[in-house]
Amino acid sequence: GAVGKGGHRHYMLKEIYEQPAVIGDSLRTYLDPGRGTIEMKEMPFDPKALTRMMIVACGTSAYAGMVAKYWVEQLARLPVDVDIASEFRYRDTPLIPGEVAVFISQSGETADTLAAMRHAKAAGLITIAVVNVPESSMAREADLVLRTKAGPEIGVASTKAFTCQLVTLACLAIGLGRARGTIDAARDQKLTQAIAEVPSRVADVLNNDDRMRSIAESLVHVTGVLYVGRGTAFPIALEGALKFKEISYIHAEAYAAGELKHGPIALIDDGLPVVALAPSGPLFEKTASNIEEIVARRGRVILITDEAGAGRLADLVAEVVVLPTVDPVVAPLLYALPVQLLAYHTAVLKGTDVDQPRNLAKSVTVE
Ligand code: G6P
Repeated sequence: GAVGKGGHRHYMLKEIYEQPAVIGDSLRTYLDPGRGTIEMKEMPFDPKALTRMMIVACGTSAYAGMVAKYWVEQLARLPVDVDIASEFRYRDTPLIPGEVAVFISQSGETADTLAAMRHAKAAGLITIAVVNVPESSMAREADLVLRTKAGPEIGVASTKAFTCQLVTLACLAIGLGRARGTIDAARDQKLTQAIAEVPSRVADVLNNDDRMRSIAESLVHVTGVLYVGRGTAFPIALEGALKFKEISYIHAEAYAAGELKHGPIALIDDGLPVVALAPSGPLFEKTASNIEEIVARRGRVILITDEAGAGRLADLVAEVVVLPTVDPVVAPLLYALPVQLLAYHTAVLKGTDVDQPRNLAKSVTVE
C-alpha cells in the first residue's frame, strides 16, 4: 500500500528516524531473545572449510560490504574481497567452485549486482543474498537469503536499508565466528550484548539532529567536504561523502585517515571542512594524530566521536558531536546516522529535491 511521510517533511527524514525500529526488526531475525545468542540459519556450506569470502554490491550497499569485510576478517578470521558489481562481473577473476559470495542489494534488482550473482552461481559458487525486497530476483535466485527488514525505502538516498544491511552483516560475521570457533564464549556474549543494544543507542544518536542541522548551516556555501576515518569508520566516511554529494550536489570525498599524507593533505586550508569519524577504540589515537595534522594546516574539523574522544580533541576542532560510547565493533552502526543527517540538512538548506535528487534512480535495473 501507499507509504506516507508520517508527518516528516521528506521520506528521507522519516526513514532516518525509523532506524531504531527497523534495525531492531532486522536484528530479531538472528538474535534469539530467549537464548540471548545470534543464530544464523543453517548455512549451505561448511563455515570451517572456507578459505575466503567475496562480497559484491553497488553504491551504498557496497559500503555496507566494506564494513562487513572488517567484521568478517576480524571476527571469523576469514579473508574477504569486496568488489563493485560492475567490476566483478567483467574482470574475469578466477572463481573457485564451492567458494561463498555475498551479494548485497536493497532492491534485489540492481542490474550489475544481479548479473554478478548469476555469473558467480554459473561458476559454481554458493551465493548469499542480503536483500530488503523479499520477492526480488536476487531473493529468488540466491542459495541463501538474509533478509533485511527495513520496510519500503522511498528516498533515493539509502539510509535505513544501509543500517539494516549492517546489522544483518554483523550477525553473519558473529555467526561465522562462532561456527569457525574464532570468537570465544566471553567475547561472543559481549558482542551479542553490544549488538542487542544498538537499536536504543541509535535512538540516542538521533538526539543530535538539531546539532547536525546547525553544523549543516556552515556547509551550505562550501565547495567541497572531506570525510576521514580509519577501520570501519573509513567505509562510513565513504558512505557519508556519497550521501552528501548525491543530495546536496556539493563535492565530497572520503579518505582513509592514514592516507591523507599521500595526497589529500595538500587540499587542507580553512576553506575545506573535514568531517572526522573517530570512535574510541584501538585506532582512535592514530586518527587523533591525523586530526592534529589537519588542524595544524588550518583545517576546520567537524569531529564525530564519543565522550573520551571529545575529551581528547574538543579544544582543537571547530565542532564536536558526541555519540554514545559503544563496543568498537558496533560503532559503524551509530556513526552512519550523523553523516546521513548532515547530508539531509545541508540539502534541505540548499533547497535541492532531497527525495528525488537529479540524475539518480532508486533502483538501477539497466546497465
Ligand atoms: C542506486 C541507489 C543507491 C543504491 C544503489 C544500489 O544507485 O540510488 O542508493 O545504493 O542503487 O542499490 P541496491 O538496491 O542494489 O542496494
